[in-house]
Amino acid sequence: MDPREADLDPRQRDIEITRPGEHPDRSLAITRRMFISKAILAGTAAGVASVGWFPIINTLDLAFGQQAAFKFAWLSDTHLYPRDVNTRFVEKTVRAVHEIKAMNPPADFLVFGGDLAQLGDPVEIDLGGDILKELTIKKVFIPGEHDWYLDLGAKWERMFGKTPWSFDHKGVRFIGLNTVGFAPDYWSAKRMTPKERMGHMATLDGSVAGPWAGVGEPQRRWLDQAISNWPKSQPLVVFTHTPLYEYYPPWNFWTRDWREVNEILRPFGNVTNIHGHTHQVLYNEVGKLRSIGMLATSWPWPYAPQGVPALTRAMIRADPGDHFDGVGWARLTETAAARIEHEYVMWGRKEIFADSREDSGAADNVNQILSPRIADRMYPY
Ligand SMILES: [Fe+2]
Ligand SMILES: [Fe+2]
Repeated sequence: MDPREADLDPRQRDIEITRPGEHPDRSLAITRRMFISKAILAGTAAGVASVGWFPIINTLDLAFGQQAAFKFAWLSDTHLYPRDVNTRFVEKTVRAVHEIKAMNPPADFLVFGGDLAQLGDPVEIDLGGDILKELTIKKVFIPGEHDWYLDLGAKWERMFGKTPWSFDHKGVRFIGLNTVGFAPDYWSAKRMTPKERMGHMATLDGSVAGPWAGVGEPQRRWLDQAISNWPKSQPLVVFTHTPLYEYYPPWNFWTRDWREVNEILRPFGNVTNIHGHTHQVLYNEVGKLRSIGMLATSWPWPYAPQGVPALTRAMIRADPGDHFDGVGWARLTETAAARIEHEYVMWGRKEIFADSREDSGAADNVNQILSPRIADRMYPY
């Protein structure tokens, strides 16, 4: 059997995900506070206006060893077209790069979380590389499906290197996984051209590619190895393009072998998954693993019609007259108090529309009950 098909073995469905009383280490209490800011808008936070308006939607407190404070930035889902096709997305990427450059104190590094390009076109990937060159800080990259499926990652890996990777920084182990490059091959038998394949992968709700996102067995083995020498209580941050849980498979708002990844991560108490792809404010906990979805700079996706997390109130439709609405990037700060504050940098909105109850599907004290897998109902393997 193709090793990738093994990921779909029905036995994996029996893995018990949420054990009674299991939840992320509460020393890592999440406080979903809205600092937004009317206060900032009223001008009480001097200096903020120079780089835009920063709604802080989630504050993520990670308690760990006394280490020097640092910040890092996340940017993803720029979906660049060639410049002669669309300059709006170019402008927004440039804006994010300028804002990251203006961070003070500066970010120690940038994570680019995938979907740099729209259709994997080398022109698009080169354009993104050029824009990001302006950032001279350390940069690490994980791919999105829009970067990958024209040439199966060849251009991406030449430009930005291979995945997975890991590095340690000031008491945190950072891991970057490729959750987009291991779709089961549906294209060869149908004799699709690379462009046709890319077109199917670039369609959010297309039925041809199916629920393909996955880590795959070799990469899971790598992950197991990469964290085997890491103390169980030290923080681990895992970057993925797609969420490491099942949110909504028909849109690939999931990673198909997330249960097995969850098992590998289970011995660790301080694990945070930061992902792109969903283009929306999103937070969830499954067992000890917490996942935070990041904004895109390009466009906001609506919330999925069902899935985990139990759906939040639908996002107010982005203002079609304001292409900066509902999009942005994120900055994360490890503070002197040994906390990491996660801030969505959302452009456009003058009023925030989520509140602490609506911005998360996870209850504060209990894990959610998982619904039967949507993928199993829709796509019998
Ligand atoms: Fe995307
Ligand atoms: Fe994506």
